[in-house]
Amino acid sequence: MISIKNVTKKFPSVTALDNISIDIKEKDFFGLLGPNGAGKSTLMSLLIGYQDADEGDLVIANEKITLGNLEARKNIGLVPQSIALYDDISALENLEIFGSFYGIKKNLLRAIIAENLNRVGLYDRRKDKVKEFSGGMKRRLNIAASLLHNPQILLCDEPTVGVDPQSRNAIFDYLEKLNEEGKTIVYTTHYMEEAERLCNRIAIIDHGKIIAAGSLDELLLLLPYEQTILISKNHLTEHKKDLFGKFGTLMNDQEKYELKPNDRLKLSEFFKTMEDNGIGYNFIDVHKPSLEALFLHLTGRRLRD
Ligand SMILES: Nc1ncnc2c1ncn2[C@@H]1O[C@H](COP(=O)(O)OP(=O)(O)OP(=O)(O)O)[C@@H](O)[C@H]1O
Ligand SMILES: [Mg+2]
Repeated sequence: MISIKNVTKKFPSVTALDNISIDIKEKDFFGLLGPNGAGKSTLMSLLIGYQDADEGDLVIANEKITLGNLEARKNIGLVPQSIALYDDISALENLEIFGSFYGIKKNLLRAIIAENLNRVGLYDRRKDKVKEFSGGMKRRLNIAASLLHNPQILLCDEPTVGVDPQSRNAIFDYLEKLNEEGKTIVYTTHYMEEAERLCNRIAIIDHGKIIAAGSLDELLLLLPYEQTILISKNHLTEHKKDLFGKFGTLMNDQEKYELKPNDRLKLSEFFKTMEDNGIGYNFIDVHKPSLEALFLHLTGRRLRD
């Protein structure tokens, strides 16, 4: 459905996208996970044809995307990273303006707007000015605006930043619903929890490069360990810490040890060793592998500092 092939985009001081290739299938809920400045928004703007790539090809539903190819844009809705709404007019008036951009006939547009307002839970607030809306409400209205022309593909650029938890959940539910109904969604985020919850396929992007891609399970298999085990530090654990060593790599923190097991660790064996050797501890935490851990493993940095 979306083919991104060897795409490079350079700005005077930085290469925002460095020879990236991604294939997104119809009905994917595709996550683009990466830290600030990774190139996520740049890729979104190329996909909707706001700017041209320096090299490479972007094809959506057999239509080559280039600057100003309006035909291709009919298939795509973009929820931009910064909210794009007129503050001094009502929600309804905003959608009327956006709807007129798409050349939708007035009668039809009225019904479409009502339906979209309903679906984002803002119908009752339709006559209120946008400046009176919370961040979450503005974001939901922005999503409604991106869907008026009923695009097959929805690009969402960090749609939950600055949004309260309740609106965030409403946005998740709505996007999941749209995906179930058949829309292909491309979703950028630097929250690994969002990618893990929403996306059936994920690409991790850093400094304009795709550093890993696949389903969540496939990605987590790239980690050389299955869990991380946190063990409290005290004179006993300190004294016998070499015993942990046979299970994996032990990293030292001020008040705890972090054990990265070598391979598929049997927890029962680990606890037995603790017990057999009389190692007392205040806590042991077993963490499931996460995309955050994978990012750290691949780059040596955290997704968010
Ligand atoms: N129009 C532009 N002119 C010059 N540099 C740009 C422009 N747009 C983006 N960049 C640079 O390209 C790099 C990637 O930016 P981009 O906005 O795509 O990152 P991002 O992954 O969306 O980050 P964030 O999570 O902060 O939104 C950054 O170094 C940015 O400064
Ligand atoms: Mg961005």
